[in-house]
Amino acid sequence: MLAIIGGTGLSQIEGFKAAGFKRVATPFSDKRVVVELYQYGDQTVAFLPRHGKGHVIPPHKINYRANVWALQMVGVDKIIAVNAVGGIHPDTGPGNFAIPDQIIDYSHSRAATFFEEDLEFVTHIDFTEPFSKELRSELQIAFESVNTTQGGSKLLLKHGVYGCMQGPRLETAAEIKRLQRDGCDVVGMTGMPEAALAREIKLDYAMLALSVNWAAGLGEKEILMSEIEAHVKEGMGFVMEVLKNFIDAN
Ligand code: HPA
Repeated sequence: MLAIIGGTGLSQIEGFKAAGFKRVATPFSDKRVVVELYQYGDQTVAFLPRHGKGHVIPPHKINYRANVWALQMVGVDKIIAVNAVGGIHPDTGPGNFAIPDQIIDYSHSRAATFFEEDLEFVTHIDFTEPFSKELRSELQIAFESVNTTQGGSKLLLKHGVYGCMQGPRLETAAEIKRLQRDGCDVVGMTGMPEAALAREIKLDYAMLALSVNWAAGLGEKEILMSEIEAHVKEGMGFVMEVLKNFIDAN
């Protein structure tokens, strides 16, 4: 089963038929994780808003382990993560998209592995390619099909490096210059450890990143929350169309 992990601006799924939810107990929290289920066409899709309903959990407080574990418990084998990001690459201005193929993790102090306790042996996953190639290419096809139908106004960076910062504050201009020197194309706060946890338990994972602002120091003015919100609102309708197209085709 496919799961969609919704980021900022995607805390509910519109246009899919609600099909209940599962409250999943995990070893990583006293609270159960609520995984919503939806019907689209003949498929059941799981949905998990990573910031909680109503966007209340900041990036560094998300229980990534409980979330990813819960998805596997309900039978998920592939995940599309939707992430709002700041644009660094010239083609990733607000309203444009990226399907990254690499990650640099600058986050810290997050519970970032399932392989911590009660180990029979120390486990290192191969993370050379952090995202699923197949899912990325299917996502790209879905994106291009929707974009063409809608007039082709969105740019898509088909590869790119996602820099994961700790947040919740946005970056300084110098931090973004450093990310630029490191080769980052977009910057966000929630791609890690989510992607690595998915790999640890062998779930396919790809990210659809929506740029909602120029990263710090790259725009003409300071970053306004009102502009971010407007781009989130505008972009998520497009994201839903891409997800529908993806599900129809797969
Ligand atoms: N930086 C980090 N995370 C983000 C940004 C940003 O500029 N915009 C949206 N998420």
